[in-house]
Amino acid sequence: MTSARITLDRDFTVGDVPHRLFGSFVEHMGRCVYTGIFEPGHPTANESGFRTDVLDLVRELGPTVVRYPGGNFVSGYNWEDGVGPVDQRPRRLDGAWHTLETNQFGLHEFMDWSRLANVEVMQAINLGTRGVDAARELVEYANHPGGTYLSDLRRKNGAEEPFDIRLWCLGNELDGPWQIGHKTPTEYGRLAKEAAKAMRYVDPTIELVAVGSSNSGMPTFGEWEHTVLSHVYDEVDYISLHAYYQEHDGDAASFLASALDMDHFIESVIATADAVRARGRHKKHINLSFDEWNVWYQRGKETEDQEHRVKESGWREHPRLIEDEYTMTDAVVVGTFLNSLLRHGDRVHIANQAQLVNVIAPIRTEENGPAWRQAIFWPFARMAALAKGRILRASVTSDRVETTQYSDADIVDVSATWDEENSRVALFLANRSLDDAATVEVALHGFRGDRIVRAEILEAPDGADRHVSNTAADERVVLRPLPGVSITDGGLTLTLPALSWAVVEVTVAKA
Ligand code: AHR
Repeated sequence: MTSARITLDRDFTVGDVPHRLFGSFVEHMGRCVYTGIFEPGHPTANESGFRTDVLDLVRELGPTVVRYPGGNFVSGYNWEDGVGPVDQRPRRLDGAWHTLETNQFGLHEFMDWSRLANVEVMQAINLGTRGVDAARELVEYANHPGGTYLSDLRRKNGAEEPFDIRLWCLGNELDGPWQIGHKTPTEYGRLAKEAAKAMRYVDPTIELVAVGSSNSGMPTFGEWEHTVLSHVYDEVDYISLHAYYQEHDGDAASFLASALDMDHFIESVIATADAVRARGRHKKHINLSFDEWNVWYQRGKETEDQEHRVKESGWREHPRLIEDEYTMTDAVVVGTFLNSLLRHGDRVHIANQAQLVNVIAPIRTEENGPAWRQAIFWPFARMAALAKGRILRASVTSDRVETTQYSDADIVDVSATWDEENSRVALFLANRSLDDAATVEVALHGFRGDRIVRAEILEAPDGADRHVSNTAADERVVLRPLPGVSITDGGLTLTLPALSWAVVEVTVAKA
């Protein structure tokens, strides 16, 4: 048995929970759009061809904002291909994923879907093969009320009212040599500045995200952010971060501590953005948009073989790509990523789990078949629903676990929020130990614990190990009631089983 003590004080808060922290991502990649969210002919499809079984799961998952349409895809995409009469839309080769894009799904379809899914749209523009002109034209098409060629074209295409898209990404991963239209930081910084300027001439109210590093291991990491922000500081509101993690060679301890790397990445980008702020004598802060994050098994040889097979089989529509099946271990890691993002919610204002359906996703589907929840669905769903109000600064004293990849890490990882309006404190807890349960003592300062509203645990079901996952036929990894959570004089006590993720929600009164 290990132990941890957590102290929460109503006077020590990080800031408000950013509404956009629980975002997701829909890319024209693999089967995320086609046979994922959109499948005309599926038994559950509505008149627009949207799978309503998937829509139900998306609403249950609860993302607040969804980035679209890529990803690497967007760097070779002409937005005009996806609007207008469906039968006249061009079929195109998508070089990013070696896929035949039919354009049966485009901007109007995504806007319609987003309304049903109850999510805000975060629109990415192509700064790979295209530039200032296409960017400003898309803003005019989407956001201008009418009376111009492009806004009237939108109306003719069926959308009388403007889409009113607030949030825009100025391209995708342009620091990466794999990206169509890869750029140096100076090339990108200049282009992003001019695109931003022209987009804001059309609609001054939009918010803009500059492309940051594709991951913190990029050789240009740091220099990229510094140079890009030196060019676009005044024009943008956010800088992006992307990161994917996986277990290497059975080193579960390091994998379970990956959120330490995420913490470090976030803090490094904040430091770089603030250095540019100081140097340029700027007043505003640039905040962070962690607009791609997740567990992704980039298996080296196996991934190369899959890519090879996709290429060998020629240009096909929506091939199966990176449909990772997530385990109990992955779910705990995802819980710790969400904790890291929430703990940094004063500066990380947007975050998008990549992706939403089928492609490294919490929701899986089969063509003409069922849809189901992966193990990683649960931490996201509960945190999106319950992390409300203010983020509490948690002081943690925990037994530690040694890792080879990072330093030693707290065995118990936590984030917490205080919803003053509804007098509730929510705690999101992970036990990183593979073998030992952890007793957790939570001290509440300035609050008095009143009633346990919810106590749930995600752990491997009886008879299963940490590799257990959900399948179409059997969702084995599900939340169950967590027994034994008690309110004490000064707070709470509970026990977390080995390798588990838990949520505890308690009503509180002022102490
Ligand atoms: O999410 C999958 C891919 O990962 C995205 O297209 C790209 O931006 C990133 O490298």
